[in-house]
Amino acid sequence: MNILLLGSGGREHALAWKLAQSPLCKKLFAAPGNPGIAAHAECVSLDAADHAAVVLFCNAEQIGLVVVGPEAPLVDGLADSLRSAGIAVFGPGKAAAQLEGSKSFTKEMCLRAGIPTAGYRRADSLAEAMEALAEFGVPVVVKADGLAAGKGVTVAMTSAEAEEAVRDIFAGRFGADGASAVIEEFMEGEEASYFALTDGRTVVPFGTAQDHKRVGDGDTGPNTGGMGAYSPAPVMTPMLRGEVVSKIFAPTVKAMAEAGMPYSGVLYAGLMLTREGPKLIEYNCRFGDPECQVLMMRLQSDLVEYLLACAENRLAALPPPRFSDDTALTVVMAANGYPGTPEKGGVISGIEQAEADGALVFHAGTALDDNGALVANGGRVLNVTAIAASAREAQAKAYAAVDRIDFSSGFCRRDIGWREVARNS
Ligand code: AMP
Ligand code: GLY
Repeated sequence: MNILLLGSGGREHALAWKLAQSPLCKKLFAAPGNPGIAAHAECVSLDAADHAAVVLFCNAEQIGLVVVGPEAPLVDGLADSLRSAGIAVFGPGKAAAQLEGSKSFTKEMCLRAGIPTAGYRRADSLAEAMEALAEFGVPVVVKADGLAAGKGVTVAMTSAEAEEAVRDIFAGRFGADGASAVIEEFMEGEEASYFALTDGRTVVPFGTAQDHKRVGDGDTGPNTGGMGAYSPAPVMTPMLRGEVVSKIFAPTVKAMAEAGMPYSGVLYAGLMLTREGPKLIEYNCRFGDPECQVLMMRLQSDLVEYLLACAENRLAALPPPRFSDDTALTVVMAANGYPGTPEKGGVISGIEQAEADGALVFHAGTALDDNGALVANGGRVLNVTAIAASAREAQAKAYAAVDRIDFSSGFCRRDIGWREVARNS
């Protein structure tokens, strides 16, 4: 069948690499794609916000499956438009995508379904928020409701910080999304991510990962979309994984179905491993970026089979997906300035040499300039990814590849995987 992949980042490059390997995939299109994705797909220009244009393209090219990479088109209801037109799509509809799009929606669902998460209060005015802060004390977590691109969260250690965060939200710093705030109890523990595929009924665990959100070595500096990741995350023991499936994923899928908005696609659970057990920090309705890159590196089963089964409500008929027991690790190379204003246009070379010993370089934010040279075109630019028997070996292999890349206007963290390497030494 022909497949259309939407998106242009490193996550989508990893998905394209894997989708294109499937015997079920006749032709892969990507919109808009990037120079790395172009090795696996025909890149086309299509505006994901123009649902009618996407449907028209799918009909013209006989697309049998649409895979939506990023969250914005899902929150915007693209999957609904495709489903109404009879086109199979991997990803939730608008109502179900609220699990990522609205923090208070998810909190209310957790409360209804008894899913372990931080205690919270939703506040629709500054006065209400101040009242909630007095109730919670410090440390406390303040979040702008809605999609604030990961920037709407403040973990406040003092009342002054918490009050400033609340004032920012009600002063409209996060736009219309800032019209309400969620005040949350602070949870202490180690963070990990767990992914599950679901067709609205069946839950299929799809791998664990840990990422590195801060820009600097030793987890310092501002938050980013993720500077590197590895999978599996051994901290997610079989017992913890079982607990997350039974206490978090399964009740979520059931609650969403009961609410008349069955969730179909990938559930990406951000978890805090607290002393009382795993608790949900947040859901995303898409694969993590760069977590997807390490999951795809480990996945041995045919990705198309699983994504199509999600779209066609027949996940229960498939065997559990197979993943390599090895550790995959990815290092993000970012453009100088990230996560502020990244430098654009920096020339990149050496990717072939970097891949010579088995590492893969996924393109996250690249473009070809007028002379056909590869240049930086975004904050996160490359994801240098390796797989090996241990985290230490995967780390060594990934950094050996990084060191063969010439990207003088870029940087990376040098300690991706440190937790795992420290645990094993
Ligand atoms: P979120 O956008 O909800 O994933 O939050 C971003 C980051 O803030 C998370 O990855 C955590 O590190 C932190 N965080 C969010 N909520 C809490 C909480 N209730 N307790 C402690 N840390 C939190
Ligand atoms: N790496 C974090 C995310 O994809 O949200």
